[in-house]
Amino acid sequence: MRVLVAGATGVVGHPLVGALRARGHEVSALVRAESRDRAPEADAVVVADALDREGLLSAVSAARPEVVVHQMTALRLLPADPVEAFALTARLRTEGTANLVAAARAAGARRLVAQSVAFAAAPAGGPVLDEDAPLYVDAPDAGWAATVRAVAELERQVLGGGPDLAGVVLRYGTLYGPGTGYARIGGTGQRVLTGKFPLPEGGSGITSFVHVVDAVGAAVAAVESEATGVFHVADDDPAPAAQWLPHFARTLGGPPPRTIPAALAPRLLGWFMTHQLTAARGAANDRARTELGWKPLRPSWRDGLGRE
Ligand SMILES: NC(=O)c1ccc[n+]([C@@H]2O[C@H](COP(=O)([O-])OP(=O)(O)OC[C@H]3O[C@@H](n4cnc5c(N)ncnc54)[C@H](OP(=O)(O)O)[C@@H]3O)[C@@H](O)[C@H]2O)c1
Repeated sequence: MRVLVAGATGVVGHPLVGALRARGHEVSALVRAESRDRAPEADAVVVADALDREGLLSAVSAARPEVVVHQMTALRLLPADPVEAFALTARLRTEGTANLVAAARAAGARRLVAQSVAFAAAPAGGPVLDEDAPLYVDAPDAGWAATVRAVAELERQVLGGGPDLAGVVLRYGTLYGPGTGYARIGGTGQRVLTGKFPLPEGGSGITSFVHVVDAVGAAVAAVESEATGVFHVADDDPAPAAQWLPHFARTLGGPPPRTIPAALAPRLLGWFMTHQLTAARGAANDRARTELGWKPLRPSWRDGLGRE
């Protein structure tokens, strides 16, 4: 099939281009002009910025894709400028997605596969939730509420393409592996290694991890499948912070995380990470297994988190 990958220089997008080509697909990599030299090897490289509607429309039309994959975020900016990273990512999820849906339609694509997040669910029920659980659009933190609303808008647009443009939303768990924040040299990895990532007392928030190879594998499955809808892409081992954080520190060779009173956590870790470590629910992957025919090659973070 002819497939276009938007976000082809990214942590997931870059290896995805190679994985799709290895399966025999003809792949166009969509990259921004300033990132041209980081483009993966592809059948074609097309240049456009997703926030430039006209430019995107003509670049995507030239590639004539049957399937379009959306792996765009601005989270690369997180370490340098978190406010800008989230603001730009929200714009990519709303405006960028609208432009990509229009471009996919204009190009005659019949399928759109987009990256979303598995940890945007409201913390009710559980401890492990399926895809029908409501998103945390009314989170008490204005920043996280804005992020979740942008995620909800991305999903609405991707799934609302009508019968001519079938939509698939892949809600990735917390990514680990090469290039991610949870790599040994990633931002979170380094904080854990140097003892700067404390554990709020109890540590009962659940994280569902997913290795980059499995995020890529799920995107390949979604491209090739006829299934539509929302899918959690996460490993088989959702775990509380009280388990994964000390394990991560040990594997990295760092000190055990310092336990802090929960009330202190927002000041030391920020609202989102406190929520993640104390209240978040995990994500069940049964639907992706059954309907996409996908299963994780890395079923548990316990065998890999902190090793690369
Ligand atoms: N999904 C999650 O679980 C999550 C949550 C929080 C943090 N993170 C961290 O953030 C990273 C996420 O990896 P990812 O693959 O989602 O993101 P990524 O590696 O930052 O890739 C994003 C892709 O979007 C492209 N892009 C950005 N702005 C664009 C625009 N205006 N037009 C066209 N393309 C644009 C980027 O291109 P350029 O190369 O040109 O910028 C890049 O190819 C990892 O480090 C992960 O640990 C992930």
